[in-house]
Amino acid sequence: MDWWNGLKIRVQADAPLGERTWFRLGGPARWMVWPTDVESAAAVMLRAEECGIPWRVLGRGANVLVADEGFDGIVMVLDDLAEREDTEWRKRPPSTPADPAGVTVTAYASIDLMKLSHRCSQGGFAGLECMAGIPGTVGGAVCMNAGGRWGAFGDVVQSVDLIDSAGRVIRRNRDEMEFGYRSSNARGCIVWRVDLELHRDDPEATLARFHDIWKAKKAEQPMADRSAGCIFKNPPGLSAGKLIDEAGLKDTRRGGAWVSSRHANFILAESTAKANDVVELIEVVRTRVEAHHGIRLQTEIDLWGPAAIASASVTKGGMVGE
Ligand code: EPU
Repeated sequence: MDWWNGLKIRVQADAPLGERTWFRLGGPARWMVWPTDVESAAAVMLRAEECGIPWRVLGRGANVLVADEGFDGIVMVLDDLAEREDTEWRKRPPSTPADPAGVTVTAYASIDLMKLSHRCSQGGFAGLECMAGIPGTVGGAVCMNAGGRWGAFGDVVQSVDLIDSAGRVIRRNRDEMEFGYRSSNARGCIVWRVDLELHRDDPEATLARFHDIWKAKKAEQPMADRSAGCIFKNPPGLSAGKLIDEAGLKDTRRGGAWVSSRHANFILAESTAKANDVVELIEVVRTRVEAHHGIRLQTEIDLWGPAAIASASVTKGGMVGE
């Protein structure tokens, strides 16, 4: 197709998309593309914007629900840049900044967050242990400011290399980054590389902290099941899971999707589930929590495709990215 001319990119039309997410639900992407350099990623973004074609970046799909109809736009996967990253990681010893105990680790966007966190902990590079048990990629972790009780990704970010919404390849230093609760000002941009400020610690102690956090999460959350992690954001000072639990919604089911009995802010899906079952269940939970507590929950996950638009209530609830 002429549209892709001059770009260093692999393209697949009608590419399976839902199965690339943790929910493993939903239809195909009209186009899935793998840019092999940053300039091509920027060009795809600009061309898509010019033509009014929706586009997204897909990491591990840990926080995404794709509509059953699929996503009628361009989905960018940055894995082909990651191969370089792995090479770079092996070749390049971490640089030592002014603080002798400090260490800068460079991570490209599509690297697996858990693997990075585990590898750093093993090497005694402390600061990322709190990412134990959080699925996803480094790029997703920047955009979402991934985290929880033990810390957030933004805490260790030194700088972010990204393609901004005008298509410029720029670096945002720490003081130009804004990290909030599950949000950052990298949303709407394409993150492709991050410098992390870690510090040296005893490798055994660091790895032990990583494992302790992972164990604590496994004990509380249904991590082995198909889900997108927590569905709703915590309202200020409150826990969405607790509110859902108190409204008596554990095990509530719609089709092949149900509210986890272990942690009520998780919706789980069985293999026969449809994305629409999850969308319906989100609405049921939201309506009942509002009736019970007078609090309207906002979704934390991204919904891709027509379901987000069709379900006005879901969109109103704060679906970023639609
Ligand atoms: N609780 C219940 N019932 C439930 C779930 C929780 O009573 O079904 C209670 C817990 O007993 C606890 C309180 O609610 O007293 C808070 O629960 P938890 O410690 O599990 O934390 P959370 O606020 O529900 C947040 C993040 C998680 C993160 C954990 C641990 C959000 C929406 N969730 O959960 O992040 O793993 O803290 O750090 O911010 C995610 O973002 O996908 C995610 C799973």
